[in-house]
Amino acid sequence: MKSIQDKFLFQDRNYIFGNWEDADSKETITVINPSTFEILGTVPKSGKMETDRAIGAAKTTFPSWKKKPAKERANILQKWFRLILENKEDLARIMTLEQGKPIAEARAEIVYAASYIEWFSEEAKRFYGDIIPSHKTDNRIFVLKEPIGVVGTITPWNFPSAMLARKIAPALAAGNTVVSKPSELTPYSAFALAVLGERAGIPKGVWNIITGDPVSIGASLLESKDVRKLSFTGSTKTGMYLMEKSAPTLKKLSLELGGNAPFIVFEDADMEEAVKGAMLSKYRNSGQTCVCVNRFLVHDSIAEEFVSRLSKEAAKLKVGNGLEPEVEQGPLINDAAMKKVELHVEDAVSKGAKLIIGGKKHALGGNFYEPTVLFPVNKEMLVCKEETFGPIASVMTFSSEEEAIAKANDTEFGLASYIYTKDIARIFRVAESLEYGMVGINEGIISSEQVPFGGIKFSGMGREGSKYGMEDYMEIKYLCLGGII
Ligand code: SIN
Repeated sequence: MKSIQDKFLFQDRNYIFGNWEDADSKETITVINPSTFEILGTVPKSGKMETDRAIGAAKTTFPSWKKKPAKERANILQKWFRLILENKEDLARIMTLEQGKPIAEARAEIVYAASYIEWFSEEAKRFYGDIIPSHKTDNRIFVLKEPIGVVGTITPWNFPSAMLARKIAPALAAGNTVVSKPSELTPYSAFALAVLGERAGIPKGVWNIITGDPVSIGASLLESKDVRKLSFTGSTKTGMYLMEKSAPTLKKLSLELGGNAPFIVFEDADMEEAVKGAMLSKYRNSGQTCVCVNRFLVHDSIAEEFVSRLSKEAAKLKVGNGLEPEVEQGPLINDAAMKKVELHVEDAVSKGAKLIIGGKKHALGGNFYEPTVLFPVNKEMLVCKEETFGPIASVMTFSSEEEAIAKANDTEFGLASYIYTKDIARIFRVAESLEYGMVGINEGIISSEQVPFGGIKFSGMGREGSKYGMEDYMEIKYLCLGGII
């Protein structure tokens, strides 16, 4: 990779027990820049053999990593956090090249990823157990929190660094060892983080990374009795598959799955703030986030104004190669993403939605799609039923609070939701009625390391970030001490 300063950050082989290795078969997968279709390089097409070797490395190193005082693990994570920030520019360039997002968003993601490592380095030292009053005079009861063992992580292409960091950081902080499978579309960000992790002092074998055939790597992780926990971010369909296939080994699971986020704008909302929040939430990463607004629900008295202001702002977005400094919206990740977006828009238009702006491939061609606003949409349309994962703002109306809540909850998903209103009583009424794991109130960006990120219903289970994020990587052990007389 020509454009990075520290060439060693660009690694293109599996990282197992501290060694950089090809796949046993020497087969590779080609990694492509989604903006230019330039070939960035290859990574190993690994399968069962490599996965089992990585699991073996994590199993071997688990006892020594677990035994380290929490402060020692915390110090390593803190050093890693600092190295990531020092190398922000290179890491951001690698990310934009393989993922496509604008360089400013890639820099922000590196800081976001680092923030999880800093946060969990701090949590590592403060994860207290309990002493429980016993029912017997000669007993004492202690509760210990212990790491689970070998953890498998499977992470997506939309946030190649942050999604990994928010799993790895709590896992390592708690004393687990890890085998990671990053997306084969964006593997270089993961390898670059591993280089810095090694420089920070993560012992060889404690964190291992393999790329390759998702089905075969997934099957090996699922079948292994040594892998005690699996943490996954991705589609609901894959999450269900992982849950089913984890049953024979009874793994613990963290599943951060799809969303269908409603963004409710009440008639008393601050219109300017609502449009600002809408732009941030909808068009971040070209609409390719699980917390992106999928459906705008706007009170019918202000819907025309909202649509017109949102369209004006969205039309201003500069689309292009994320490495160009002024670009605000990059490409979709690949042709499959493009086809889904095109299908959703065609379906909505065929069922009566009007294209206010956009609605087709951008003039740049390739994976670029125009920022789009559709109005009015309804629940029969795919844009309302499924997660579009693209720069499509789909707006529907409501006429009462009850209707807004009913429409917002009319989905099997339950990840992020948003409401805009100035009425404090309504804020609580609506927030408490929304069947979602997260509610942004007069706020379009709700992600950060201090908060419990996660969903309910078909959006998954478990929480990432915050004090709760650490609990997902620990087991509780209780000690009953008798004979105290
Ligand atoms: C996601 O899309 O899965 C994560 C987005 C975020 O952390 O804000």
